[in-house]
Amino acid sequence: MFHTLTKTRQICEPLTCSIFEPGFQPHRNSSSASMANVTRRASIATALRAAGCVFAEDEARLLMDAARYPDELRQMVDQRLSGLPLEHIVGWADFCGRRMTVSPGVFVPRRRTEFLVRKAASIAKPGAVVVDLCCGSGAIGAAVSDLLGSCELHAADIDPAAVRCARRNVEPRGGLVHQGDLFDALPGELCGKVDLLLANAPYVPTGSLGMMPPEARLHEPRIALDGGADGLEVQRRVALGAAQWLASGGFLVMETSGQQALATAGILDEVGLLADVTWDEDVAATVVIGSKEPWSQKAARSISF
Ligand SMILES: C[S@@+](CC[C@H](N)C(=O)[O-])C[C@H]1O[C@@H](n2cnc3c(N)ncnc32)[C@H](O)[C@@H]1O
Repeated sequence: MFHTLTKTRQICEPLTCSIFEPGFQPHRNSSSASMANVTRRASIATALRAAGCVFAEDEARLLMDAARYPDELRQMVDQRLSGLPLEHIVGWADFCGRRMTVSPGVFVPRRRTEFLVRKAASIAKPGAVVVDLCCGSGAIGAAVSDLLGSCELHAADIDPAAVRCARRNVEPRGGLVHQGDLFDALPGELCGKVDLLLANAPYVPTGSLGMMPPEARLHEPRIALDGGADGLEVQRRVALGAAQWLASGGFLVMETSGQQALATAGILDEVGLLADVTWDEDVAATVVIGSKEPWSQKAARSISF
């Protein structure tokens, strides 16, 4: 996933037509790539690099893989040069080693969120009732479901575009996607029975939205990013509901930022959940785990993907 690692200029000059001249063959297999395609890929990479794309070579390859004909490639490269996230152009993101569908206008799952998935899958048991709240593309729930092998998966989001997208990732795994405001979206019979409540809710303070990279600011919906005045408004509502919806022995696993971690833990504490803050410096990921009863990290399984 290249989203968070890409410097983007908002507007770049379109590529010259020479890159797209006849001879283009969809690049499905590098060993069979024609010399023309190799040259074309290098030209596209040069243009992408000039536009600030750090992983220009990889992006060029992915765009060539995705395009079915020269005009489509031209259009895709121009979209990328104008700042559209790569995932929205090719229609998927690499998340936990899986290809997750991501539609335009839907939050692109971040690499750091793989840490939440790893933590969640390490403490849940196969067969668990899993809810991915504020699911966006549904990538978190889908990945956890894959790692558990079997679970009852529900995902929910308020945004109809996210719900449509999540259905493409969650339903093939036997899960259900619901639309609505946080817990209001869920079937009532799940109340008190949720073993694993996953939440990467919006947590950017409203005043900081303007400092986000243009790819997020301009191409992801504000409702996916805006966590209110202190960034914690949605998290507070998630925590309040978690105290009610979690089963005995269940866990809330919520992403937050390093700066907000103690405040997020405090929110869990206020609703009577025991909070455990855990982080991975390598990917700048912080997760707060809430539980009704004491538990030990020692019981967690080791997860790799
Ligand atoms: C930061 S995005 C995370 C998406 C996904 N969990 C992920 O990590 O890729 C937050 C998501 O929360 C959803 N959301 C915001 N407010 C919500 C609410 N009140 N009820 C349900 N979903 C909400 C947004 O539509 C968006 O899809």
